[in-house]
Amino acid sequence: MSLGALLRMWRRRALLTQEQLAERAGLNVRTVRRLENDGLLQPRTTSVLQLAKALELDGAERATLNAVARGHPTDRPTTAPADPRPWTIPRQLPADVAAPGVRERELAIVEDHITTMPEPDEGVVFVNGMAGTGKTVLAVHAAHRLAPRFPDGQLFVDLHGHAQATAPVEPGAALARILRTMGVPAEHIPWHLDDCAALYRSVLTGRRLLIVLDDAADERQLLPLLPATPGCQVIVTSRHRLTCPGNARILSLDTLPLAEAITLFTRTAGCDGDTPRDVLAEIVRRCGLLPLAIRIAAACLQARPAWNAHHLLDRLAADGLTELTAGHQSVTAAFDRSYERLPADQQEAYRLLGSALHPAFDLDTAAALLNTTTTQAIRLLDHLLNAHLLQEPAPGLYRLHDLIHAHASALWPPDGVSAPLRVRCHTALLT
Ligand SMILES: Nc1ncnc2c1ncn2[C@@H]1O[C@H](COP(=O)(O)OP(=O)(O)OP(=O)(O)O)[C@@H](O)[C@H]1O
Ligand SMILES: [Mg+2]
Repeated sequence: MSLGALLRMWRRRALLTQEQLAERAGLNVRTVRRLENDGLLQPRTTSVLQLAKALELDGAERATLNAVARGHPTDRPTTAPADPRPWTIPRQLPADVAAPGVRERELAIVEDHITTMPEPDEGVVFVNGMAGTGKTVLAVHAAHRLAPRFPDGQLFVDLHGHAQATAPVEPGAALARILRTMGVPAEHIPWHLDDCAALYRSVLTGRRLLIVLDDAADERQLLPLLPATPGCQVIVTSRHRLTCPGNARILSLDTLPLAEAITLFTRTAGCDGDTPRDVLAEIVRRCGLLPLAIRIAAACLQARPAWNAHHLLDRLAADGLTELTAGHQSVTAAFDRSYERLPADQQEAYRLLGSALHPAFDLDTAAALLNTTTTQAIRLLDHLLNAHLLQEPAPGLYRLHDLIHAHASALWPPDGVSAPLRVRCHTALLT
């Protein structure tokens, strides 16, 4: 075993980063790196002593280190453990429920980025989009397909950015959980976030691991969890457009094209081939081409053997989607969770925009609806755009997705907003 390999092995056993070992040993971190890369073959005796102490080597290990550092091969190559780091290979991916023929183009983009990322670069794919567009399903499906390339395992971490009745996971808590699942004893997990993140990177060093970070709330939560470790690649999902590292591939998931929406509906509802295509098209349009809504409508049809697609369409035409639920899923609940996470001024802006009779409007109309200046309106609109609660089909033109419009208008009237303001808003739209 070379000097570099020995030092690396003992450093990892001590759960230290290169920076931490350098600090403990009173050496420059560049010296530690060169030693580990076998770029410095005969270090000074004092440096060797300091390293042995920092690594808490026992007598036999010190003798081995001294011999190897003097250029003598170790006499115990076979007794050295292959890798002393605690390690349990994680296989944490949830079930793959992706329907064939749906989101194939987006899947190819994710796979491409992960498989063609030249080592040692770290690959991050960042999937964002409004509630229910299929971010998690896509990330999990891609991770299953890519799994064979990552022999050291696949991690799936639900960050609860928009979970019901659960606050977003603190980054330190997420790191501690990951470290525990990988076999690091609880007493070795540092309290301080920076130390925890350093240990996380250290444990991942030299491993090929795929990490899915699902439903990230914001950058504060996400950034400590990006390992920046060669060999480890990451797929992040979020309802927000977050600022990611420079080499991240950003993929915004929109609603589905009509043909894919029909495919998703027929595959999941188990429709017979006799249902006219225009009926299917009308159903998925009423679902706003949103995968979550299509899935719920399909589940409703499946749950009522007496219904056919025509009955479902009648029901959607009469009541809209808000009444429909499938198990614990509902479109209203998904949108509620985005709305609840907004600060008060953005919540009010969302409700006011929802009060408009028409879901599309320009900046001046938005400013009138929001009863504010255009500068302030732009700020509020930008926040809603980032949260994927608003779309900007062309510069200066805004649009609420039909289902979002229905959700926001159902929140009317906003508390404390007077009737005259509502009249002013509608007048602005009509002029
Ligand atoms: N490719 C797909 N194949 C089959 N079903 C899908 C697909 N994409 C989405 N769905 C259905 O839509 C539902 C919502 O998808 P998913 O949970 O991935 O959305 P999301 O964008 O992650 O939503 P959120 O923002 O709430 O996390 C899923 O439960 C699934 O039923
Ligand atoms: Mg999700």
